[in-house]
Amino acid sequence: MNTSETITRRRFISHVALAGTVVAASPLFNLRAQGSPKKFRVGVVGCGGRGSGAMENILEAGKSAGVDIEIYSVADFFADRANGAAQKYNIPKERTFFGPSAYHEVMAQPVEIIILATPPVFRPTHLEAALQAGKHCFIEKPVAVDPAGARKIIALGELAKSKGLSIVAGTQRRHMSGYLRNQFAVEHGAIGKITGGVVSWCGGKLWFKTREPNEDDASYLVRNWTSFTEMSGDHIVEQHVHNLDVANWFIGRTPQSAIGFGGRARRQTGDQFDFFSIDLNYGDDCHIHSMCRQVNGCYENVGENFIGTEGSCYGSGKINSSKLAGIQIPEFKTHDNGQVQEHIDLLQGILAGQPLNGARQVAEATLTAIMGRIACYTGQMIRWSDLTTNTASPWYNLALSPNPADFEAGKVIAPKDNVWSVPGEA
Ligand SMILES: NC(=O)c1ccc[n+]([C@@H]2O[C@H](COP(=O)([O-])OP(=O)(O)OC[C@H]3O[C@@H](n4cnc5c(N)ncnc54)[C@H](O)[C@@H]3O)[C@@H](O)[C@H]2O)c1
Repeated sequence: MNTSETITRRRFISHVALAGTVVAASPLFNLRAQGSPKKFRVGVVGCGGRGSGAMENILEAGKSAGVDIEIYSVADFFADRANGAAQKYNIPKERTFFGPSAYHEVMAQPVEIIILATPPVFRPTHLEAALQAGKHCFIEKPVAVDPAGARKIIALGELAKSKGLSIVAGTQRRHMSGYLRNQFAVEHGAIGKITGGVVSWCGGKLWFKTREPNEDDASYLVRNWTSFTEMSGDHIVEQHVHNLDVANWFIGRTPQSAIGFGGRARRQTGDQFDFFSIDLNYGDDCHIHSMCRQVNGCYENVGENFIGTEGSCYGSGKINSSKLAGIQIPEFKTHDNGQVQEHIDLLQGILAGQPLNGARQVAEATLTAIMGRIACYTGQMIRWSDLTTNTASPWYNLALSPNPADFEAGKVIAPKDNVWSVPGEA
């Protein structure tokens, strides 16, 4: 075994150790142990931009992991999306589904792995169905739009452990060598105790859609989901979750509270903000500035920077510290594309009978973003406990509407366009 193989294996073992594994219970492990061919069938719910990308990613990952992958069944809210994917992967009509309840049909297929790439509002409901059906799951981030949804994902993480099933999340930074290297260094004291930093996703506007003539509310919301908080969580949740996840990962805990402000000046549809600026208090004298913006023609920056008692570092860039030389950092060997590596890790975990479980990590990152959003929408300080343990808090049971059940029951009422939260008083 050469050095890089040793390190790759060490990395893999430390990674899967987080999973809380149930080796004997993994159905695929047992299959493999009995000498069955290494072929996994994949079902996909949500065949839009990321779902299409994830299908290519897992096919590519199969080559690295030595697994034959078949995209076996697909579902989408819209027939043309489902049919487009079916045509690309030669999937017959009887395994191609569409509509708000189509995910049930994919879960009923003899697939081992499910990819969930719908808008975030659907994730808790669809993940529950996939786990109940005994499937390993890849779930795109973010994983909820409200506190109850995020708590449900944490609970589903425990269900997955008890069933020996995987949950790998689309927070790809956790699967990229630069981030893995720096997080290892920070965890081993490279910059001392983190006391501050800034995490940001400041970029241009995202795509949006206007309502078609006579378009029903459900279809409009699904097509224009990146404009509505009820569907996406707002862009602090939908996009900035990546950087907030890095903050939680590097600091090693979740924030205790959030105070912030934000607003809207440029959007043309939906009810989201254009920008957020938040102080996340991680306790123990550690504050992180979280900032995100989706406005064209402004300064753009996406990344993370942490300041510690012994130095500073970027999420995946330079580490400035005299302590660095004394830390032996392994070579983290990953695929160039983090979105392929996350599927390699998923497949390797299944093959080893040690399913990965990133449910809590991605749920906490999602909840961090939700906490920041509520702080900015209301102008109040929001505590982590308000969302996780304090059942008397008005925010604990905050449930956005419409929800997945409304979509399945055909009872969707879209929130009004261009009406948004304005905190405080004149
Ligand atoms: N990890 C990343 O870097 C990354 C990048 C882009 C998007 N994403 C995430 O991926 C998810 C999907 O984003 P996207 O860019 O592909 O959006 P998209 O609009 O291109 O695709 C979403 C698809 O889901 C379908 N859909 C909606 N509701 C459905 C339902 N109830 N049942 C079945 N299908 C349904 C839509 O019709 C659409 O085809 C989001 O959570 C997004 O945040 C992650």
